[in-house]
Amino acid sequence: MTLKKKKQASPTALAPVKQLLAENSQQAVMEQMYKFIELEHLYDSAIREVKTKLEILDSEFRTKYSYNPIHHIEDRLKSPESMFKKLQRNNLPFTVEAVRENLFDIAGVRVICNYIEDIYQVADLLTAQDDVTLIKRKDYIANPKANGYRSLHLVIETPVYLSEKKELVNVEVQIRTIAMDFWASLEHELKYKTDTEVSAELAEQLRLCAETIAQTDMKMQQIYRTLKQID
Ligand code: GTP
Ligand code: MG
Repeated sequence: MTLKKKKQASPTALAPVKQLLAENSQQAVMEQMYKFIELEHLYDSAIREVKTKLEILDSEFRTKYSYNPIHHIEDRLKSPESMFKKLQRNNLPFTVEAVRENLFDIAGVRVICNYIEDIYQVADLLTAQDDVTLIKRKDYIANPKANGYRSLHLVIETPVYLSEKKELVNVEVQIRTIAMDFWASLEHELKYKTDTEVSAELAEQLRLCAETIAQTDMKMQQIYRTLKQID
């Protein structure tokens, strides 16, 4: 299979602004845009709050047990263009209120752990914190997706303290092992970055790769436990 780059789509980054301009006065558009800038600041702050919580947990483990449960952390803030597309798909208006009430993945934090047990430990410790509320939990490790995808997904709510108020903000946290991340990154690349339709046979091969990776993850966990004489 040769991988072809997707043709560059016509720029849609300005679509939200165009739609706003078509439906509202210039004044109203400026107000919405200002609110979106504030919204981005809010979600970016929430990402930093959550990352700090995770980094503190990780460094505490290093200090106490000379062990890091977290391999590394990635984050991303959903672009206004992606927010717009998702709202459009769900027949929702392009407003800050619609984003805050309906989109749970504006702020995204991905935690890459060494072992499967680290995933659950990190998730439990994070959600046990006083100012963290668990909104949604999807365990795609215990129940992998049909294509083989594995990860633990959480949506948490955490406070961000601003000059005049406290805002509760949703953050999507995906937690997975290095091996699961390897598979998910390549699968995503194959699915979204190529023109070639993934045939049923290739999809099955990809699923089998995920299966092999999951078995390896479990073996690595076992080796680690044996070496550390846990059990
Ligand atoms: P969406 O964010 O609209 O997809 O809604 P949802 O809440 O139903 O999504 P879910 O929690 O199942 O997955 C959200 C995110 O997980 C996606 O944006 C991806 O980053 C990741 N993800 C989910 N399924 C897959 C998959 O099959 N392959 C890969 N590579 N990533 C996935
Ligand atoms: Mg998403």
